[in-house]
Amino acid sequence: MSGAGGMGEALLRLVEVDYRYAGRQQGDSGQVSGQVGDQACSQAAGGGLAGCSLALARGSRNVLLGANGSGKTTLLLHAIGLLQPQSGHLEFAGQPLDYGRAGLAALRRRVGLVFQNPDRQLFSASVVEDVSFGPLNLGLDTATVRQRVSDALHAVAMADYAERPVHQLSFGQKKRVCIAGVLAMEPELLLLDEPMAGLDAAMQAELLAVLDGLSARGITVLLSTHDVDFAYRWADAIHLLVAGRCAASFAAVDLPTHAASLQAAGQPLPAVLALQQALVAHGVLAASAEVRSLDALLGALGPGGAPSRGQGG
Ligand SMILES: Nc1ncnc2c1ncn2[C@@H]1O[C@H](COP(=O)(O)OP(=O)(O)O)[C@@H](O)[C@H]1O
Ligand SMILES: [Mg+2]
Repeated sequence: MSGAGGMGEALLRLVEVDYRYAGRQQGDSGQVSGQVGDQACSQAAGGGLAGCSLALARGSRNVLLGANGSGKTTLLLHAIGLLQPQSGHLEFAGQPLDYGRAGLAALRRRVGLVFQNPDRQLFSASVVEDVSFGPLNLGLDTATVRQRVSDALHAVAMADYAERPVHQLSFGQKKRVCIAGVLAMEPELLLLDEPMAGLDAAMQAELLAVLDGLSARGITVLLSTHDVDFAYRWADAIHLLVAGRCAASFAAVDLPTHAASLQAAGQPLPAVLALQQALVAHGVLAASAEVRSLDALLGALGPGGAPSRGQGG
């Protein structure tokens, strides 16, 4: 639906954002800051972000695609105001981010982040307590909180686990509780840091269904991954991160024309695309079909292609 750039209003925009991590131990007053890494003060050594610009169209599904260390987590921490650019800036809904106390509180009512490690996010004894924490903090009345918590737990199919102790949950269930906790804040923008990591295929399919539901409700999603196959299948827009910079933003359907950027970023072509191109080259498949999932490819091969695998493309 939404293209990578230009179409519709940008909900979040990064403009030439620079951020370099100071040193390994920022809080260590015994170190002279700025000395340690200075000989090798290339961006690669400093990490973080370097001249990073990108825009997320409201209501779109966005993937931040990049190798380990390319700056995905750093970017997400900027998007929720936990890190502040050293130069450049961010805009949310057309307004520059306000890093004052009230400004950040307002931002975090509209933007939610699901950390990569659910144990970093969950801290209450029970599921319902954890998911209630945010809305209670907003000062909402009890009935509203209860309703939001119930809605959020239903959205992630965890309603039956409301009274469970968090420590009894599986990794995938914890992940869904984290998402519920963020959903209960009713964010406009949902950020997820490598949400598929550590989940088995069944749990990934469940999480995907959750994300599809949120996206259908109009929530803008930005998730980070190093999985180009997933990015190609799921995203409206792909933002390719290389050494702290957004090397390219494009509509996922246009990925075939960005093969060179992907290669420069050390990313393989999506397997389904490589297979499609081989089938076209061998005259098995007519060119031009838009195929972004294995099921779509099997479908394009016609009735004799293969049995249905029971998942939508
Ligand atoms: N707290 C930190 N202190 C110093 N360097 C860091 C810190 N966090 C990340 N970095 C560095 O910043 C770069 C980007 O890291 P990160 O945003 O975590 O990448 P990604 O999430 O894509 O793996 C990496 O080079 C990483 O080593
Ligand atoms: Mg990361």
